[in-house]
Amino acid sequence: MLCDLGGAIRRNDFTDEAASKDVMARTNHYLELFYEHALSEEQSIHSHMREFVPDIVDKLEGDHQAIEERGAVVKGIILELPDAAGPEQLIETGFRLHQAFNSYVAFFLEHLNYEEESFLPLTWQYFDDGQLADMRVDILAHNPPERNIEWLGGIFSSNNVNELAELVSGVQASPLPQEMVQGLIGLARNTVGEERWAVIEKKMAKSAA
Ligand SMILES: [Fe+2]
Repeated sequence: MLCDLGGAIRRNDFTDEAASKDVMARTNHYLELFYEHALSEEQSIHSHMREFVPDIVDKLEGDHQAIEERGAVVKGIILELPDAAGPEQLIETGFRLHQAFNSYVAFFLEHLNYEEESFLPLTWQYFDDGQLADMRVDILAHNPPERNIEWLGGIFSSNNVNELAELVSGVQASPLPQEMVQGLIGLARNTVGEERWAVIEKKMAKSAA
């Protein structure tokens, strides 16, 4: 998601107003999306983990602050574009924007990697599967449905079939309302396509046997 967007900014012709507007709208949208994701983590996960690992939670929330600051630099440069005096200034502003976005992505990816490698295993140490599922449900319950669809669509399209089989089984077993469960499973199926869905169903049946 972020790397694709970085490529789109890199390739964009900043003298083309319509093309720039489109890429800038996508950039602003993703910055907002990732900021909301940080808030969700703080509300639904960090609030429970703080009791056990306060220093690590402080580090992660400090990272979120730093990510937001880097995002604010990107947004500030986007706001400069309409005031550019001509093609040269547009190109120069686009170059600075790409650099600022790269800085944002580099920091963000390092943060994500820390969460995956260090923080996630810690959550398994302090909470059981049911409690972790409750935290995920809490995140879903706090987000508007269209945001959940966007996030989950991204997860469904980027995960492998083994991860997806586990994820879909978790959704099926969750205490979410049946309507939402069916909606999420339909979204997963549509996103991955029939061929991969058949593999996922086989894997789910095998692990349930
Ligand atoms: Fe985070």
